[in-house]
Amino acid sequence: MKTRNLTPATGSEITGIDVRALDDAGFAEIEALWLQRCLIVIRDQHLTPAELCTFSRRFGELEPPPASEARRRDEEAPEMWVISNVVENGKAIGALGSGEAEWHTDMSYIPAPPSASVLYGREVVTNGGRTWFGNMMAALDAMPARLRERLEGKTINHDSSYTSAGDLRKGMQPVTDVTVAPGARHPAIRPHSVTAREALFTGRRTNGWIVGMDVAESEELLDQIWAWCTREEFLYVHEWRANDLLVWDNRSTIHRREAFDASARRVMWRCQVRDVT
Ligand code: OGA
Ligand code: MN
Repeated sequence: MKTRNLTPATGSEITGIDVRALDDAGFAEIEALWLQRCLIVIRDQHLTPAELCTFSRRFGELEPPPASEARRRDEEAPEMWVISNVVENGKAIGALGSGEAEWHTDMSYIPAPPSASVLYGREVVTNGGRTWFGNMMAALDAMPARLRERLEGKTINHDSSYTSAGDLRKGMQPVTDVTVAPGARHPAIRPHSVTAREALFTGRRTNGWIVGMDVAESEELLDQIWAWCTREEFLYVHEWRANDLLVWDNRSTIHRREAFDASARRVMWRCQVRDVT
């Protein structure tokens, strides 16, 4: 196994392994690297849906996909779903389309968001469609004290009405007042469930609200926080190769996806892991 840091801030590339053949010691090494670097990029994996689930399950119990994705499940691998822009027989085979997906943490709008997200590139695009990652432990550590003081002890409401692609979820109403948006509330500075290291936990910008704060003030503070945590020094931008297997720590990172040519095919398989509580 060979590893290499992708940027100083985050991401470690792993080559020379087959995740199907990892013994416990090998997995422990990968898991430690993942906790430390927040994102691992494992190259050249050849997995079936069931094998992807088996590997993902080594990080913990699998968390079912968002309700909106349940209908696209694979019989052999019911916990896996698809992220894709491909339309077959008039129906999208996966989620998120080809547009931009804004910066987000996966499912932060539920009380216990997933710990790990696994994304496996089956068919990738090279023009656009890159996935950006930000290390939110690093962003918090480097945050100017004056900004951090304003966030200390605060709770953020994470709206559940829209997907990261900006689509209103089924059965949801458009948000006109962020103070009554549905979703879940989490501390803005949140300790990691395994390492206890604190990370900035902001979810997504759209319809965020710092609970109890005047909306104008909350908007201004959220804008400052987002401008801070998406600075280049905290980021890694992933250019996909087919058969890349990515696992990010959803407790300590944010990610976004660039738009890409709608006529190109992009097909990714996806699993996620339930957090330890
Ligand atoms: C996800 C996600 C980004 C991408 O699967 O949670 O945000 O690059 N995907 O497809
Ligand atoms: Mn996501």
